[in-house]
Amino acid sequence: MASETVAISNEAKRRQAAGEDVLDLGVGEPDFDTPSLVAEAGIAAIRAGKTRYPPNVGTESLRTAIAGAMSRMSQDRDMDPSRLIVSSGSKQALFNACFSLFGPGDKVLIPSPAWVSYPQIVHLCRAEPVMVPGDAEWGLKVSVESLERHRDDKVKGLILCSPCNPTGAVYTATEVKAISDWAREHGIWLISDEIYRRIHYGPGPAPSLLDLDDAALERSVVIYGASKAYAMTGWRIGAAYGPPELVRAMAALQSHTTTGANHPAMYAAEKAFGDPVVDQDVDRMVAAFRRRRDYLVARFGDQLPGVEFVEPHGAFYLFFRVDGRGSSAPQGGMEFCQKLMSSEGVALVPGGAFGDDRWVRLSYSVSDTELEAATDRLVRFFSTVGGAG
Ligand SMILES: Cc1ncc(COP(=O)(O)O)c(C=O)c1O
Repeated sequence: MASETVAISNEAKRRQAAGEDVLDLGVGEPDFDTPSLVAEAGIAAIRAGKTRYPPNVGTESLRTAIAGAMSRMSQDRDMDPSRLIVSSGSKQALFNACFSLFGPGDKVLIPSPAWVSYPQIVHLCRAEPVMVPGDAEWGLKVSVESLERHRDDKVKGLILCSPCNPTGAVYTATEVKAISDWAREHGIWLISDEIYRRIHYGPGPAPSLLDLDDAALERSVVIYGASKAYAMTGWRIGAAYGPPELVRAMAALQSHTTTGANHPAMYAAEKAFGDPVVDQDVDRMVAAFRRRRDYLVARFGDQLPGVEFVEPHGAFYLFFRVDGRGSSAPQGGMEFCQKLMSSEGVALVPGGAFGDDRWVRLSYSVSDTELEAATDRLVRFFSTVGGAG
């Protein structure tokens, strides 16, 4: 099945190309350009002839830079760059991890709502995704108790996403530890997708598996990447940090699929992960996301007080509920998004794409002006279809 998020984005682009006034808040990527120092490093790498096949697992210097960036976010914890493998985006890192770990007969737990690709990746591994509904009272996060209710002997893995796409919820340090302890106790592989870790509105980066002791990393994979924090989605650089044996298996798999990530992009990413000046660019982007988040939350509070949403603590998404607003109102996310697109020209993503169509995802990765205009239209739409109060 093609990604529904991509389908909405294509529809918005098609209408924009036809001259329609469409605001696309369906996108899942930063609206910023790649920091210039990073782009220059990529260009310099091409000019320097770094255009041949790359080392299969990534250049030594990039692995060291990524390990350094991950370590700095976790109180300078010891990290071994040889346990890190670079892939074509964190999506490939996730696929490689799942394909190396799971197969027919295995079940993999996925807290829901979930990023569209997790269940599809598990299907591609011929394993069975088991969606574990998050608790609406708790920012749609899952508890150990709900994970335990879905556990049986076939459960071999759990994919955790924090900060979460699509909800913006963030698991606290206590919650991360409780889930890690539970997974260890039952011999379940924990794949922790921390691609949005740096885009966090609490103090410092979001809590991580890397904040825990070494034992927590024995049957774990931490997924990280350049796409979101460094505005580098098109460069396709992601990484996985895991036990040596698993990293070897992932390297072997990758050697027969993509060979490795894009070689010159590795030099750009090395600059991103390693240069303190780029870190300041990231701080500025995170500050802009925070400002937009605060703006949206304030407008929802003032003008859409009856609309329930998940408190956004990270990433750049607002996940709000659209069902139960009376018989004349849209009955779910899909109908809501279609009508919003046709009457107001605003593209959002129906929650059904993430496993729960009672909700809708709005990406505030757009300019402040666009966000303001889109919010005006959304408020007007709610007042016409009912249920703004
Ligand atoms: C939760 C999550 N994980 C992973 C990815 C993949 O990112 P990339 O392959 O660009 O590193 C995305 C992209 O949308 C995402 O939202």
